[in-house]
Amino acid sequence: MTENDPLKPIDVATWNSGAVRLIDQRKLPAELVHLDCSSVDELWNAIKTLAVRGAPAIGVAAAYGAAMSIWASEDETPGLLTEMNAACDHLATSRPTAVNLFWALDRMKRVGAQSSGLSPADFKARILAEAEAIREEDLELSRRMGRAGAELICDGATVLTHCNAGALATGGLGTALAPVYFAHAAGKRVSVFADETRPLLQGARLTAWELKQCGVPVTVITDNMAAWAMKRGKVDLVITGADRIAANGDAANKIGTYGVALAAREHGIPFYVAAPVSTFDLSIPTGEGIPIEEREVGEVLAPRGQQWAPADVAAWNPAFDVTPGELIAALITDAGVLEPPYTESIAEAFGDTPGNG
Ligand code: MRU
Repeated sequence: MTENDPLKPIDVATWNSGAVRLIDQRKLPAELVHLDCSSVDELWNAIKTLAVRGAPAIGVAAAYGAAMSIWASEDETPGLLTEMNAACDHLATSRPTAVNLFWALDRMKRVGAQSSGLSPADFKARILAEAEAIREEDLELSRRMGRAGAELICDGATVLTHCNAGALATGGLGTALAPVYFAHAAGKRVSVFADETRPLLQGARLTAWELKQCGVPVTVITDNMAAWAMKRGKVDLVITGADRIAANGDAANKIGTYGVALAAREHGIPFYVAAPVSTFDLSIPTGEGIPIEEREVGEVLAPRGQQWAPADVAAWNPAFDVTPGELIAALITDAGVLEPPYTESIAEAFGDTPGNG
């Protein structure tokens, strides 16, 4: 994988045969297999079950779902618009926390409304072009985050990250991992501590896998080792991704991120969050308003079908938590590195962007 040739969690070379091809992330690292989705329902299911996951990637996948919903239809343009809007509403029910999903779907709807005067063939082409644009922009956004964030990584540094916010989670090089890839490509000796990220192990399975593909040294630790790794001086900085960032800089990310941020503050280690414009939700003043996905408790009690706890015991499975902006040293974005106070720096960077509130 390189800056110009990223991993492709979403591949549309199969579009003309009616499918979007996904890397089936549920199967990594044991197997690298693809999943062809040929209907909106199949894409919805792939998002819901995390075959495709990570905030920017689910936005890209959903945008192609919108295009897929009308591709084979023989309706006139008003009918196509109605069909596509219904598909967008359905795709929006797949997962609640990552705002990139809603950002991409709103963008598809907006372009659909603006294109309602086109012929059916031109309408379809315009909609597909918008999905393509969202995917291509994501690659460029990750390059910008990579360049900006790499400045924060010194030669010889060890970065701790949580979950997977790499190429597998985006249409590009990642968010949190983009600065690592840029620093590595620039010849800096950079290594990564990857929290395993219970319950679904995105860190152990996906972050470790993709860093290994790229030759970046990676050490996997269980989530409960992060604070001790900091105490022992093994971590120079933390970079995570985000699924939704409120107007004041509070950032939702994979469950466990908040604890990592608390530990980082205690040890005087800078905690950064990397995210593109599509992750900012300026309609939500603080993290209190971010909807947190709760997933089925089987993921906690019986991971991958193996019963680790009594089957009838109570469990709780929030998939995300919110790190308050006060714990975040800076936000690494496609508009540069934003510093506190975030209410001002975020509004200045993204306040005029359509879809950001
Ligand atoms: O449940 P997931 O695997 O979709 O959660 C993903 C994360 O929490 C990522 O850190 C976040 O989406 C940022 S991705 C660039």
